[in-house]
Parts: sequence; structure tokens; C-alpha cells
Amino acid sequence: MQKKTMALLMSLMLLLALALTGCGGDKKEAPKKAESKVLRVGTNAAFAPFEFQDEKTKEYAGFDMDLIRAVGKQLGMEVQIANMSFDGLIPALDAGNIDAAVSGMTITEERGKKVNFTKPYYTSGLSILVKKDNETIKDVKDLEGKKLAVQIGTTGAIEAKKVKNATVREFNEASEAFMELRNGGVDAVLNDLPVNEYYLVQGGKDVAKTAGKPLTSEHYGIATAKKNTELAGKIDQAIEALKKNGEYEKIYVKWFGRKP
Ligand code: ARG
Repeated sequence: MQKKTMALLMSLMLLLALALTGCGGDKKEAPKKAESKVLRVGTNAAFAPFEFQDEKTKEYAGFDMDLIRAVGKQLGMEVQIANMSFDGLIPALDAGNIDAAVSGMTITEERGKKVNFTKPYYTSGLSILVKKDNETIKDVKDLEGKKLAVQIGTTGAIEAKKVKNATVREFNEASEAFMELRNGGVDAVLNDLPVNEYYLVQGGKDVAKTAGKPLTSEHYGIATAKKNTELAGKIDQAIEALKKNGEYEKIYVKWFGRKP
């Protein structure tokens, strides 16, 4: 009888020891008490089909918005979306006002010094939009000396500033750059190709068209604060899971009408 009790005690202690080492060795599995269950997302919601506000419901819609909501679900976090200026996103990450910037943001070396990026989640690039009846701009060379509209703080703005003798007008929203082209205030818009294409399909083709070939190839990433080294990795894992379970493809097809 006593032997049995001893054996029981010892196996209990062994179990306890195992459980303890198990916890210590696998920190990822042990949820931290302070871990936030809210994912504060910043975006510039005038960039369809990636992020925009539904006219009727005022809800945030688009590929990025569906993707980050699916990521949130995957991570067991509630996604809260805040609309802000595109050039305010990185400062907002720095200040700790948001946890992630999901805004069709191109992964660049320069930005990589200030934030952590996830792995690329979408392949994009820049294209040129001109007025429908424009016959003089057929290539990036033809932009020299012209008036260009871009969104402030974007890769489009960076490219536009490389064009010789061009006058670059920077707008807070990409949609305002489109408006300026429509109004005849500029000769061309330099902006992300899928956004330009969406604009044309949504009615823009009555006044505008694409000129020449895409200027760049770019990859979008989700940005997190430099200090927050964990979150980008967690989002990567979540996106990986969404790719495996078909959810990523579903969202992609919903917004782009074809498989990734
Ligand atoms: N991809 C471009 C960049 O990173 C433009 C992104 C603009 N995004 C937006 N939601 N307005 O510079």
C-alpha cells in the first residue's frame, strides 16, 4: 500500500515536472495575460479595390479589409479599422496608435528601415493613366515636362519626381488624383495599376485610359511597428493558413475576378 502511494506520488511529480518544462520550452503556446485581443488597423480607405468605404453601409470594404479581417479571425483578435491619410500610417505605427497598416503598402527598402513588413501578400506595380483622347503620352518618356498627379507619400509620387521637368501635384487621396485628370488639371496620373484598372472599369474609362506598360513591379506587405517584432510574423502565419484553407483564394477571386 505504501509503495503504491509512493509510486503514485512520484509519477505525479514527474507529470508536474514534464508540464513545467513543457511550458518553458514552448513559449509560443503559452498565452501572455497582457496580450491584446484587439488588432488596431490603419488604412487609407480611398484605394479601391483594396480599401474603400461602402457608399451605403459606410463599412470598410476591399481586398485588404477582407484579408485582415480573416487574419484577425485566425488570430482570435477583433479587428478595428481606422481611416487615415496614407502618409500618416507609418507615424501612427511609430506612435503606437495602430498595430498594423494594411493599405496596399509597397514593401520598400526605405520603409523597411522604419517598420516591419510581413511577407508580400500581393504583387502590384505602377501604371500611367491619361485622358481618353490623349495621343501624345504612350510611354514613361513622354511624361517629361508634363503635369502629373499622384497620391502623397506613395511610390507613384517617388516615380513621378524622377521624371525630368515634370510638375508633380500631390493629393491626399488617389481618388483626388483621378478627379484632377478628369478635370484636365494634369496630363497623367501615376498610381498603382490594379487601382487604376478598377477606376477605369468603374466608369473612369469614359474619360481616361492606360498609357504604355507598367512602370514598376511592387509587392504589398502589411506593416507593423519596428518595436513590435512579433506581430508581422503572426500575421504571416495567419496568411499562410488562409492560403492553405482556400480563404485567401476566395477573397482574391471576390475582388479580382480571377485566381491568384
Ligand atoms: N502602393 C503604393 C505605395 O505603397 C500606394 C499605396 C496607397 N495606398 C492607399 N491605400 N492609398 O506607396
